[in-house]
Amino acid sequence: MRSLIDIQELSPEEIDRLIAVADDIIENPGKYAHKCEGKKLATLFFEPSTRTRLSFEAAMYDLGGHVLGFSEAQSSSSAKGESVADTVRTVSYYADIIAMRHPKEGAPMVAAMNCDIPIINAGDGGHNHPTQTLTDLLTIKREKGRFDNLTIGFCGDLKFGRTVHSLIGAMSRYKNVRMVLISPDELKIPDYVKQTVLDEKGIEYTETNSLDEAMSGLDILYMTRVQRERFFNEQDYIRLKDSYVLTPEKLKTAKSDLAIMHPLPRVNEISVAVDKDSRACYFKQVKNGKFIRMALIMMLLGVE
Ligand code: CP
Repeated sequence: MRSLIDIQELSPEEIDRLIAVADDIIENPGKYAHKCEGKKLATLFFEPSTRTRLSFEAAMYDLGGHVLGFSEAQSSSSAKGESVADTVRTVSYYADIIAMRHPKEGAPMVAAMNCDIPIINAGDGGHNHPTQTLTDLLTIKREKGRFDNLTIGFCGDLKFGRTVHSLIGAMSRYKNVRMVLISPDELKIPDYVKQTVLDEKGIEYTETNSLDEAMSGLDILYMTRVQRERFFNEQDYIRLKDSYVLTPEKLKTAKSDLAIMHPLPRVNEISVAVDKDSRACYFKQVKNGKFIRMALIMMLLGVE
């Protein structure tokens, strides 16, 4: 029984296949309308979500399947102290596949070890978010036409940003990819990501505090939110939250074919004035998320 806990569990060839299926779903949605008839997806969200949970649910409905689940821990028996292991074992008697978000790093892995239906990690604390990465990869492929020979700037909260950690892991497997890591000192990329991914794969990268200095060299700018919910100290959050605010003015030195990405939700880090810029891709990411999740659900359920 195959789960998806970390993006590295998918080979580049499998990612190519998922992207090809997602592209085909976009072109021919009717072909897929009955692929998961009789199947049930459970969405177990112990942390808030708009895009991930609703795109999973829309994906399953568009495949002809059904959805059950909860959108906050307080409405499940985890509020009474039930363990993740007992929760997923219970749900495995009612559903065929589970998408799970949890504030604790490693919780989806514990879930996968304790039930015999596929578990999809829909975000675990500050660790990983593999289906956001699939969404990002589909968007990069559709916007840039390639994964090789790209310079990607990651900007904002690189310490707790699980979408950043997952996308760095995925992009580090392609040729001639350079990364510019733009953050305040307090929110730099964790050492374990540097050692086990960037150094291990020999990726060329630089760390800087300055988005302005990095801008002109980037093919992709991946903005992120400074996440209030990951801070222990409100004062630190307030001091760091507006470290980077992307405006049309700041994009003056950017390439004409820059792809501006953001996993969303945004708070203040991209001005709404940027939404009109043809290089803004963040709502395309939102749209692509449903199609790649449809492809993933079919793959994990063994649906041809
Ligand atoms: N990108 C993302 O995970 O968004 P949600 O928190 O709304 O699911």
